[in-house]
Amino acid sequence: MATTTAIHNIGSLVTNDPALGDGGPLGLIADAAVVLERDRVAWVGPTDKAPDADTTYDADGRAVIPGFVDSHSHLVFAGDRTQEFNARMSGRGYSAGGIRTTVAATRAATDAELDANVARYLREALRQGTTTFETKSGYGLTTHDEARALRIAAQHTDEVTYLGAHIVSPDYADDPAGYVELVTGEMLDACAPYARWVDVFCEKGAFDGDQARAILTAGKAKGLTPRVHANQLSYGPGVQLAVELDAASADHCTHLTQQDVDALAQGNTVATLLPGAEFSTRAAWPDARRLLDAGATVALSTDCNPGSSFTSSMGFCIALAVRDMGMTPDEALWSATAGGAAALRREDVGRLTPGARADLALLDAPSHVHLAYRPGVPLVSRVWRDGEIVG
Ligand code: NIG
Ligand code: FE
Repeated sequence: MATTTAIHNIGSLVTNDPALGDGGPLGLIADAAVVLERDRVAWVGPTDKAPDADTTYDADGRAVIPGFVDSHSHLVFAGDRTQEFNARMSGRGYSAGGIRTTVAATRAATDAELDANVARYLREALRQGTTTFETKSGYGLTTHDEARALRIAAQHTDEVTYLGAHIVSPDYADDPAGYVELVTGEMLDACAPYARWVDVFCEKGAFDGDQARAILTAGKAKGLTPRVHANQLSYGPGVQLAVELDAASADHCTHLTQQDVDALAQGNTVATLLPGAEFSTRAAWPDARRLLDAGATVALSTDCNPGSSFTSSMGFCIALAVRDMGMTPDEALWSATAGGAAALRREDVGRLTPGARADLALLDAPSHVHLAYRPGVPLVSRVWRDGEIVG
């Protein structure tokens, strides 16, 4: 069986390694080749210097990019919220409360139904070039339902996040302190073995700064690393808390003070922007330009969930970020690949450099710029994950 594959005649290759390419952050190489050996990248460079391989694939002058790294999704759920979306598009506002509808549907679903849903949305994402993804619990909100969500998620990815603190469970409507006790105690004990990350929705109508701090600190004590739903619907303490607790990522970052921007620029926490949520809730866009100009690391992700952002398309998020959030096409591509990897503290994905995972997408276009230039067009024509063609 062939163990090396060379993809030749790549019109434009994004490596995300400035040392390998034209000196820019994307490390672009023209007329390039990539050699894959089993599940890893073995070599990148100009086609005319490519080493021999067992099989060759002709990219025919088209662009190749690292597989997208979608560092924020909520895929363990049942049902959908079509009516809520319809109402919103007729003028109704979005609030955290809609999450309860999905909690009821998710609790009523069987393990097999939830597993099939995760698999279906993942296939959908993979076809569109996403080769690494994170996903969360948060639609169970009982010890049993949160733990099973994470167990199911862990069968599909290593990047699993405990979000028992999505909203206060309806069962604890009169006792939010009791719910925080559950989330930091028995529920955390049951969930921690399946998760790498702990998250909290720090927002009016969900958890305040003190509650969020207690939840993230308890998660840290169990070996989980924080990431935070921060400053999505209003200004608040989420971003500052994320930076203070050395969270891998502060997600949403839609309403930021100058202090929030400065904290993200100086700290170790990636700002993950989720334009699908602003699109789907008709909200003001996060200001990516302000964050980038301040020196923050920015990731782009889908936030795929049935309430606020029911898209699995990283290409769509790139187009929105370029059109409406002040990002250049190069910056948006970097944020959807290397930025996502930074938000997951991964060095083996989001780049095409020797030793990285052989996760890549071939576009039906001469350049990655077409992802924003030709919005809504299915440009991903081939996907390799772990060196295998999977889409
Ligand atoms: O990231 N903000 C909190 N959680 C999700 C929304 C979940 C829902 O509405 O079901 C988000 O937008
Ligand atoms: Fe989210």
